[in-house]
Formats: sequence, structure tokens, C-alpha cells
Amino acid sequence: MFKKKLIRKASSLVAGVVLTLGMGGNVQANEDPVKVGFFLPYSGTFGHLGQGIDNGIRLAFEQAGNKLGGRDIEIVTVPSGANPSNAVSNMQKLISGENVDFVLGPVHSGVAMGALKVARQEGTILVIPNAGLNVATRQLCAPNIFRTSFSNWQPDFSMARPAYESGVREVVTISWRYAAGEEHLGGFEEEFERLGGKVVKRILIPFPSVDFQVPLTDIASIDPDAVYAFFGGGGAVKFLKDYAAAGLNENVQLLSTGFLTDSIAGLGDIANGVRTTLHWNPALDNEYNRAFIQAYKERFNEEASIYSVQGYDAGQLLVKAMAEVDGNTTDQEALVEAMGKVTFDDSPRGPWKFSKAHNPIQNMYLQEVQNGQNVVIGVAAEALEDPATGCAMAQ
Ligand code: PHB
Repeated sequence: MFKKKLIRKASSLVAGVVLTLGMGGNVQANEDPVKVGFFLPYSGTFGHLGQGIDNGIRLAFEQAGNKLGGRDIEIVTVPSGANPSNAVSNMQKLISGENVDFVLGPVHSGVAMGALKVARQEGTILVIPNAGLNVATRQLCAPNIFRTSFSNWQPDFSMARPAYESGVREVVTISWRYAAGEEHLGGFEEEFERLGGKVVKRILIPFPSVDFQVPLTDIASIDPDAVYAFFGGGGAVKFLKDYAAAGLNENVQLLSTGFLTDSIAGLGDIANGVRTTLHWNPALDNEYNRAFIQAYKERFNEEASIYSVQGYDAGQLLVKAMAEVDGNTTDQEALVEAMGKVTFDDSPRGPWKFSKAHNPIQNMYLQEVQNGQNVVIGVAAEALEDPATGCAMAQ
């Protein structure tokens, strides 16, 4: 797994030594800047997600004096977009072209598939600060792959029981037809049906279409107990608006993950009553959350989001692990071991740590929109661990 990366790093080390000997001799290659590749979307439906993650990572770096293990940081950005067919070549730009030490990204689960393929082949360390593609920490898990966000299964599995216990028996599920959409719905559907509920219809629309008219008419005629939806970014806001415009918000309970309601500021009361699950809420009462929210607001003049939290923790992961290995990226085995051991006792979302498959073991909070705000009304699942099915490291 680490071989190719080590060979490439060894040759850049030789170049570094030759260069530094000429300059007086005592500077180590490990004193070169650490190269961190950002592989995030900055436009389109997930553009604001990518920007939130970018901000969160930068905040963590800035709070650490812009150093990783004593070394300066050089950030290289290759926009990932949201088109899976460009993922492999864009990752190659960062790895073969820029020779980065770490790649941080992506947001979109389909893009993550390509990113995983390249990271597994090349052995480059990949830290996923959003994309929930289940296989990243299941069948395709690897020592050099980490995720600071969630698996697509985690939030949705957590919503099934509260839904069932609130009396919901028949649901229509709806999302985009792409990896994350189908996995998010699947996490909910499987557990909801195991508990005795019924999915009367599953609706998938092309990604990233926001043409919800036909499916909403369909839902109104079925009149289920609840709708379970997965949408994120710009699509989420549009879905909430159209759901309310169709009058469904008054009649059919809307359930989802907190990605649906992440950007409700400015929407007024139209999302009131929507229930979601998520691993962070701005009102979580811990000192680190309060400090993070304030620092984020001061630095970027906007509210923190779930995406900025995930980015911040990805930044913290590099800060803490690089301190542990004194900035040495050439012994990658020691570095990934240090990364796996990092604990996030000071995360805005509350304490969490990595599973053996390198996915967060974390609480899932139950939220309800009240007076235009996401309010925590309970803990849907405590210290929830993804099953990591098929991950050899987790056996
Ligand atoms: C994903 O594609 O994995 C994804 C995208 C947007 C979200 C959450 C997950 O809000």
C-alpha cells in the first residue's frame, strides 16, 4: 500500500538533500513545507459545502500557527466539481502533478469513488471531510484512508427508530439517483422496515436536478404518514421551499438528515416541524463548540455549518497527528498510525474517535426545526459506529 508513495517521497528527499547541502547542510527535507491538497467543490449545488470545509480546515491550521509538526503548510487546490468522471484525473493532478502529502476531500460520494481508487493505488493519505460513501470505510477501507464526517448509513439509520416510535408506519422516500442518495435512503429504509414500517414508494430523480414538481404531486396523491428525504446543498433549500409551496409541510411529516436543514437561515418558518438526525448542532452545549462558532464567525463573517465542523476536524487531525510524529511524513506507516489514534475530545460536535475502519464513532442528535431554528430534541444514537462490513482492518 505505501510502496509507491515511499519511492516518490524518497526521490524528492534526495533532491531536497542535494539542494540543502548546497545551502549549508543542516536543513532536513522534513523542514520543507507540508503539501496539503484540497479536493473540494467550489461551485454548483455542493459549492457552499466545499467552501465551508475549506474554511474549517484553514481555521484549524491558523489556530495551530499555520504549522504541521513544526513545518510550514502549502495548500494546493484542485476543484473537484461534482462530476465523478473527472475524479481520477483531478486526483492525479494533486498526487502525481503536485506530489502532495495529504489530500483532503471530496464532498460528493460519486467523486469519492474515483478519489478512493487513486488513493488506494498510490498510497497517498486521503482524509474525507464529507463524502459518506459507505464502502470508503467498509470494503474499500485502507490504512491511508480516513473520514472525519460520517458514513451515509449513520445519520439515516439513526432516524428510523424515532420515526417509528412517533407512530409513522408508511413512508415515501426521495433523493437523487446517485451513490449517496441511494445509500442514505437505504440506511433509513432497512432499519425502518426491520422495525415494522413500510416504504410505500422510493423516488429517485437525476442528480443534481431540483425539479421536484412531479414527485411532490405524486407524494400528495399517495398521502403517506411521512416523507423521508435526502438532499444536500442548494438542492436541499429548493426541496424545502417546494415542499412548503405544495402545502405538504402542513400535512405530511418530513424526515431527513440534518443536511436538509443545514441552510434554513432566511427561510422563515417554512421548515418548522421537519425532523432530522445529525452529528452536530450549533447549540450543542460544550465549550469547544461555543469557541469554534465564535472563532468561525469572527474569521469568515458567517455562521458555522456541519461542513465547516467536518473540515475543522480534518484540519485538527493533521495538526495533532503531525505533532505526534514531529512533522515526519517520510515514515508514512508511523504517520497513519498516529492519525488513527487521534482522539477528538475537543471537537465542536462533542468527543469522538476513529473506528478501526477510520470512520467516526459519534453521537447522532435528533433535531426538530422550531421557529426557523434546528433545535436538539434528543440523542437518536449514542457513540454510533458504522458496521464496517467487509473492512479487513476492522476484523
Ligand atoms: C455525499 O455525496 O456523500 C453527500 C453530499 C452532500 C451531503 C452529504 C453527503 O450533504
